[in-house]
Amino acid sequence: MKVSSFLYFANYGVRTILFRQKKPIIGTVILTDKCNLSCEHCSVNNISAIIHPYEQIKAEMEILYGMGVRILFFCGGETFMWQDGDITLKDLVSEAKKMGFLIVNTVTNGTFPIDLPEADLILISLDGDKEKHNEIRGNTYDTIMQNIKNATADNICFYMAVNQINKDTIKDVCHTAKSNRNVRAVSFNFHTPYPETVNLQLSTDEKKQCCDVISQMMDEGAPIFNLKNAFPYIINNNFPTPCFQCVVIENGKISICGRCIDIPYLCEKCGYFFVAEYTLLFQGKLKIMFEMLKTYLKYI
Ligand SMILES: C[S@@+](CC[C@H](N)C(=O)[O-])C[C@H]1O[C@@H](n2cnc3c(N)ncnc32)[C@H](O)[C@@H]1O
Ligand code: SF4
Ligand code: SF4
Repeated sequence: MKVSSFLYFANYGVRTILFRQKKPIIGTVILTDKCNLSCEHCSVNNISAIIHPYEQIKAEMEILYGMGVRILFFCGGETFMWQDGDITLKDLVSEAKKMGFLIVNTVTNGTFPIDLPEADLILISLDGDKEKHNEIRGNTYDTIMQNIKNATADNICFYMAVNQINKDTIKDVCHTAKSNRNVRAVSFNFHTPYPETVNLQLSTDEKKQCCDVISQMMDEGAPIFNLKNAFPYIINNNFPTPCFQCVVIENGKISICGRCIDIPYLCEKCGYFFVAEYTLLFQGKLKIMFEMLKTYLKYI
């Protein structure tokens, strides 16, 4: 991370904590909900299957920038399916950097060739060992591994949503990350139980067991992009929600925290680690602050 970006975030953090500001810093643009997969745990794919046009996406990026967002995520649907004429995801990332976003990341299912060195991080969803990943995501594991091997930069981070199907394969994902030169780290979430996927949610005991495994892997030197100090809050779902410093824009609609904000009672069962990590940080929890500093400087 550039020193100037670090100073910007440090200033933002201090002001947010001291003055209890709710101004956002992290924003997500949903490029499309169209997707080539139909994963067991997912509730957001192919609802409209519209690929939003470039001018709309650009305007949405400008809106987020104007609100103060400086860490931008592109998400979907499948982000690598986004295209408008000759304009591709690569151009959107470059455009975002030019606009002034300090960190630009994208989330993808990894089934398309990965040539995006312009992004700070490419979060590739990997949901277990080959057997469990394919059970959730169809027969995609080998394609993803081949695409990672052929990727043009080492800016990849695995993104695993831990649920009833894959909860015993956390170590496999850590080992795969560690042994792959293009992969910097793994970032975990627990399944967030949308009404149609409640059966995949983990109990408190299961979350505790998973966090114990993640902690053990951290102690053994696995590259994990999460904060151990947030685990007790994540296990017990007693972190504050929603995260006012995060916003999502999808087809012109802005939501605080996630596009799931309108689903009744979902926030109290939220499995997204970033919500716990950021809300605890902005509450001024010192241990979280130091761990985040150490972790972010290592992987971005
Ligand atoms: C909706 S996908 C969009 C990007 C891309 N198609 C992908 O799969 O990475 C973004 C991330 O959300 C995760 N996800 C989907 N439904 C979830 C849920 N109910 N709880 C937690 N994570 C979920 C996916 O596993 C993926 O890592
Ligand atoms: S690839 Fe991503 S958007 Fe598509 S179904 Fe799976 S989780 Fe959902
Ligand atoms: S806190 Fe609520 S809105 Fe935010 S990600 Fe979790 S479920 Fe979605």
